[in-house]
Amino acid sequence: MASTTLTSGTRLRGTVRVPGDKSISHRALLFGAIAEGETQIEGLLPAEDPLSTAACLRAMGVEVSAIEAGQPVLVRGVGLDGLQEPAQVLDCGNSGTTMRLMLGLLAGRSGRHFVLDGDSSLRRRPMARVAKPLGQMGASIHGRQDGNLAPLAIQGRQLQGAVIRTPVASAQVKSALLLAGLSAEGPTTVIEPALSRDHSERMLRAFGADLVSESQASGGPRVLITPGARLQGQRVVVPGDISSAAFWLVAGLLVPGAELLLENVGLNPSRTGILEVLEAMGAPLEILNERLVAGEPVGDLRVSPAPLKAFSIGGELIPRLVDEIPILAVAALAAEGTSVIRDAEELRVKETDRLAVMARQLRAMGAELEETSDGLVIPGGQQLHGASVDSETDHRVAMSLAVAALVARGSTNIARAEAAAVSYPNFWDDLSRLQAG
Ligand code: S3P
Repeated sequence: MASTTLTSGTRLRGTVRVPGDKSISHRALLFGAIAEGETQIEGLLPAEDPLSTAACLRAMGVEVSAIEAGQPVLVRGVGLDGLQEPAQVLDCGNSGTTMRLMLGLLAGRSGRHFVLDGDSSLRRRPMARVAKPLGQMGASIHGRQDGNLAPLAIQGRQLQGAVIRTPVASAQVKSALLLAGLSAEGPTTVIEPALSRDHSERMLRAFGADLVSESQASGGPRVLITPGARLQGQRVVVPGDISSAAFWLVAGLLVPGAELLLENVGLNPSRTGILEVLEAMGAPLEILNERLVAGEPVGDLRVSPAPLKAFSIGGELIPRLVDEIPILAVAALAAEGTSVIRDAEELRVKETDRLAVMARQLRAMGAELEETSDGLVIPGGQQLHGASVDSETDHRVAMSLAVAALVARGSTNIARAEAAAVSYPNFWDDLSRLQAG
């Protein structure tokens, strides 16, 4: 699919089972690979990003069964030090999580050499945020711009435990350091400026790692990992991705007459910033059937349209909704009052510069908004018009523009709509089904 055309004025009704959580899917594959014994993963996201992680693991001798929607995935663990030196470059595709977590995992594999590469977007994304602190632990990582840009060469070494303060609240950075800490000499403490998603901590503990988190510690949330524990293969149940549900939440609020039920959505508190903002905007969200599934809170979400008030967000909330800012920008255009997004400079180094790309694409649909160095200022009450827009290869931009198109006057053509498959392979099918619902 090169482009897709959407028209407003259609219905939007029905039930969606959003695909598996992308962050949890990567971790289940990775931790399963370095555990002893078999890991069985249910609900793994069968999308391009986790496929990149699986392909890298296979290239290092890990057996990972075929990844197909609805089928459990089996990973035959090779143990913490069982990864083989790959004969080829490890291709991380479009996936920052794959590259950053692999850096942490591979830096400590003594005597082996690895090269990580990715697509043109990934080759532009900053890796020094992982490579530098890993360097403090003794890692040898080389690449363009003094080890900041892929392709990256890793010469595996015995690492030393360290106390590391990360400059950004990034779960990818934190997780890379925890993976390195698993086999370092001595314990490693990672201190974050604000709490980022904690799926690694939860899952590593479930696999048997010796790990203590203190999310309320003065001086910043911290995690202490002590090497030496053996990881044991597990059964992992991956909940639906709240970041994918977010597109339907906003569509359900904005499209007149919409009625949507989103099933099996992960509700980990380090990810639910989007729900807090939508509720503060006046969204009548219902959370049903709340439960714990394999250590992660899960529930169903019901949403229908409502008048929305503007929001102002920044600070420690940002890491808890960092991937939802593009779709929040679409919600802001329909709200009453001016919404403000601050402290979101991290969006400039995602798959694209999401602040610039969302501002550019929404302007093409007639929106007036201001792009600041670290966010957006978005006056509400705006009626969009149909236009030719472009995902600029970014999956979350593609899906945010789809929701904007549903409330624009006239029809909208979204170029490079296939980008959605990075995290949500059935997005366009789900949309057609709900429009027919
Ligand atoms: C992710 C962490 C976040 C998020 C990304 C997935 C993860 O990135 O934006 O989509 O799985 O750890 P950062 O760690 O760069 O904030």
